[in-house]
Amino acid sequence: MKKHLSLLLFVTLTLPCLNPVSAACHVNDETGLLAFKSAITADPSGLLTSWKKGTDCCTWSGINCFNNRVTMLSLSGQPDKPNSFLSGKISPSLSKLSFLNGLYLTNLRNLTGPFPDFLFRLPNIKYVYIEYSKLSGRIPDTIGNLTQLEALSFYYNSFTGPIPTTISRLTQLTQLKLGGNLLTGSIPYGIKNLKNLTYLTFERNGLSGPIPDFFASFSDLRILRLFGNQFTGKIPASISALAPKLAYLELGHNALTGPIPDFLGKFKALDTLDLGHNRLTGTVPKTLANLTKIFNLDLSHNQLVDPFPQLNVRGIESLDLSYNSFHLKEIPKWVTSSPIIYSLKLANCGIKLKLEDWKPVQTYYYDYIDLSGNEITGSPIGLLNKTDFLVGFWASGNKLKFNLESLRIVQTLKHLDLSRNLVFGKVPSTVSGLDRFNVSYNHLCGPIPATKFPASAFLGNDCLCGSPLAPCKKA
Ligand SMILES: *[C@@H]1O[C@H](CO)[C@@H](O)[C@H](O)[C@H]1NC(C)=O
Ligand SMILES: *[C@@H]1O[C@H](CO)[C@@H](O)[C@H](O)[C@H]1NC(C)=O
Ligand SMILES: *[C@@H]1O[C@H](CO)[C@@H](O)[C@H](O)[C@H]1NC(C)=O
Ligand SMILES: *[C@@H]1O[C@H](CO)[C@@H](O)[C@H](O)[C@H]1NC(C)=O
Ligand SMILES: *[C@@H]1O[C@H](CO)[C@@H](O)[C@H](O)[C@H]1NC(C)=O
Ligand SMILES: *[C@@H]1O[C@H](CO)[C@@H](O)[C@H](O)[C@H]1NC(C)=O
Repeated sequence: MKKHLSLLLFVTLTLPCLNPVSAACHVNDETGLLAFKSAITADPSGLLTSWKKGTDCCTWSGINCFNNRVTMLSLSGQPDKPNSFLSGKISPSLSKLSFLNGLYLTNLRNLTGPFPDFLFRLPNIKYVYIEYSKLSGRIPDTIGNLTQLEALSFYYNSFTGPIPTTISRLTQLTQLKLGGNLLTGSIPYGIKNLKNLTYLTFERNGLSGPIPDFFASFSDLRILRLFGNQFTGKIPASISALAPKLAYLELGHNALTGPIPDFLGKFKALDTLDLGHNRLTGTVPKTLANLTKIFNLDLSHNQLVDPFPQLNVRGIESLDLSYNSFHLKEIPKWVTSSPIIYSLKLANCGIKLKLEDWKPVQTYYYDYIDLSGNEITGSPIGLLNKTDFLVGFWASGNKLKFNLESLRIVQTLKHLDLSRNLVFGKVPSTVSGLDRFNVSYNHLCGPIPATKFPASAFLGNDCLCGSPLAPCKKA
């Protein structure tokens, strides 16, 4: 006790003496940061409250100093808090922070204005992450001057126009993240010069043309995200050179054609393979059986045909094989035995099954189950009784036969589609909490409880009545 007291006394007495030393924040840094603050028009969560003239800028939130010079500016909004954002422009006065090494402005959501030209006047800048904001306009060709950059991210802004070909001069880059913008044109071939890349993403843009066959030069690439563009042509053969390190290969939502290459079986470290929503044809290579560590596999919405190989994956987390030309007959064993699966989508997969006969080892983590358009009989009552966090259950176009009133609707459930089955009984009032609901073309009867769903959600039953269908006949 006594010891603590003396320590406290020591701290109290010495703190005032420390102040003059730490107040040595360089005047240029202070000026630059205060100009940044004054260009911010709204800061509802007070991210910049500690930024006060005359106090040591090295103690301000989001600031790191080395030898009393600002080396890092790092401000981050919290995605789950609506008030956690900054409005305004990024002041060009940040160019006064001549020792700035890292600029991290992430999730601030409402920073506007063009490409930050002041970067050209920061000789020490190596890491630039301006993510989830509203910067717009073109990325200038002069970006090729920032040759000292090791990481560049404008992830999820609103940049338009092409990716400048001069970007090929940024050979020290280990991360290049331009995903989530409005970029157009093709991927510059010169990007093959960025041999140090571990992380490359151009996802969710308007890029087109073939994916360049230049991957042989990237020996360290771990993450390749190109989904959500308009890429055409085949999956380039040189992607094979990224084995065995590549962990994320995401090429979904494009217009790729041709087969799924055999070499994907070499990707021993693959965590996520997304080839969904393309125009891929042929069979799924048997070599995929070697991907024992894959967690997320999406091959949905292609034109793939049987036979689907037996995989050896121990714990799949999410699987989507929907809308191909598969006739799986049963739910694969490696799905049923997965202890961690949370999303299973096997719509139109030719599954013939009595649902009660499907005994997954784990149902606890399930968020999504889509078994639409198969030949599934029996009842989902037991399955839905065991899933405590289910968000979506889609099973339209099967032969499910059960009393709807016995189906447990968990709190988390938002989407329920049982249309075109053999469901009977009444519509329980518990469905009113769902966002989407469809029980059309079944054998339901009786008054419909008050819900917000349109008539098409209830049409084609035996004797449902009341809004939004015709009124019930008075008894
Ligand atoms: C975002 O910034 C713009 C311009 O700075 C402003 O008009 C708009 O109100 C801001 N949005 C929010 C949600 O504050
Ligand atoms: C880019 O570099 C060139 C020469 O290396 C120079 O002339 C030019 O002014 C630089 N542009 C910018 C915006 O820094
Ligand atoms: C890029 O790779 C080279 C060769 O492997 C290495 O010497 C250099 O340090 C790397 N640069 C960065 C920024 O990682
Ligand atoms: C799986 O990998 C082993 C060795 O890594 C190889 O011998 C075998 O041919 C591969 N199997 C398939 C189906 O690719
Ligand atoms: C649902 O689960 C409860 C226990 O959580 C059990 O008592 C009940 O019998 C189950 N109902 C069905 C139809 O499986
Ligand atoms: C319900 O399903 C039927 C048939 O599957 C479909 O035609 C209708 O548009 C759906 N309605 C709603 C509201 O989802």
